Amino acid sequence: MSCSKIPQIVLKSSSNQSNMPLIAFGTAAVTNNDGEITKAAVVEAIKSGYRHFDTASIYGSEEALGEAIQQALQLGLIQSREITPDPEIRIFGSLFDPLARVWIAMEECQKLGLTKSIGVSNFTCKKLEDLLSFATILPSVNQVEMNPVWHQKKLKEYCEAKGIIITAFSPLGAKGTMWGSNEVIDSEILKQIAEEHGKTVAQVCLRWLYEQGVSMAVKSYNKDRMKQNLEIFDWSLTRDDHEKIDKIKQIRVNNGPFAFIPDIWDGET
Ligand SMILES: NC(=O)c1ccc[n+]([C@@H]2O[C@H](COP(=O)([O-])OP(=O)(O)OC[C@H]3O[C@@H](n4cnc5c(N)ncnc54)[C@H](OP(=O)(O)O)[C@@H]3O)[C@@H](O)[C@H]2O)c1
Ligand SMILES: *[C@@H]1O[C@H](CO)[C@@H](O)[C@H](O)[C@H]1NC(C)=O
Repeated sequence: MSCSKIPQIVLKSSSNQSNMPLIAFGTAAVTNNDGEITKAAVVEAIKSGYRHFDTASIYGSEEALGEAIQQALQLGLIQSREITPDPEIRIFGSLFDPLARVWIAMEECQKLGLTKSIGVSNFTCKKLEDLLSFATILPSVNQVEMNPVWHQKKLKEYCEAKGIIITAFSPLGAKGTMWGSNEVIDSEILKQIAEEHGKTVAQVCLRWLYEQGVSMAVKSYNKDRMKQNLEIFDWSLTRDDHEKIDKIKQIRVNNGPFAFIPDIWDGET
């Protein structure tokens, strides 16, 4: 199948109602994160049909990603949006800054046209509630861990009601990384469902997220796996599969570096 047709979702609070492809290519790599490797992986991803990339300065992938896009433009794989490059703007916020100060500065960036959309990550219902008490622009996206062993049921309902799109990170439980585990990939229930459909556990996870109505960021620098991760749109899970997944014991897989902050998750499960 051609993978270039990844369904899109509308970012309503974006300055121009931009569309966002539902699957993003993640670039958080602990090993094989050399610039040339990342660049080659991103060029391959563009060839495979990815048009949405997730990066962060702490991943060290921003430069390689930019170079890969430039190369893809030169190769004619993608067309330029023909926008004049904006000056580099970075907003340095920390966990300890008042949220309102950071958010209002981010809104200013969108109003000035420096960015099309703004969003948040790891926000609980409580933090979103705080944000919405003063925000004049709704966050387009809240990026949080979500996968078959961490359903985020309450947060998903809250975000749906407010029109905030969830992007699931660690959709495969970040197998093989220092922040994740094999909890998702090794789930017997998921293995059984995968076998019945002739799919992989990874594809079951991504299809489940799609059927939950959320977007997702998945990382693979392997050519076959990055393709496999896009092949989720021409089949579906059954009601029975959903019931089985509903019963999977829930744990937050990615605890990351913030586990030491008291009640960082506001007691929400
Ligand atoms: N906002 C945040 O705080 C935050 C936090 C975490 C992650 N993220 C973003 O979300 C992206 C995805 O999350 P993640 O990297 O933590 O975890 P993930 O996508 O759940 O898992 C990545 C791991 O799974 C392997 N993998 C990928 N496809 C596979 C497949 N089809 N079969 C078997 N194994 C497969 C990858 O190895 P190979 O590369 O060898 O295939 C890699 O080790 C990140 O890269 C990052 O961009 C954001
Ligand atoms: C979100 O939380 C995870 C832990 O679950 C952590 O690894 C990640 O760095 C956090 N991301 C941001 C942007 O704070």
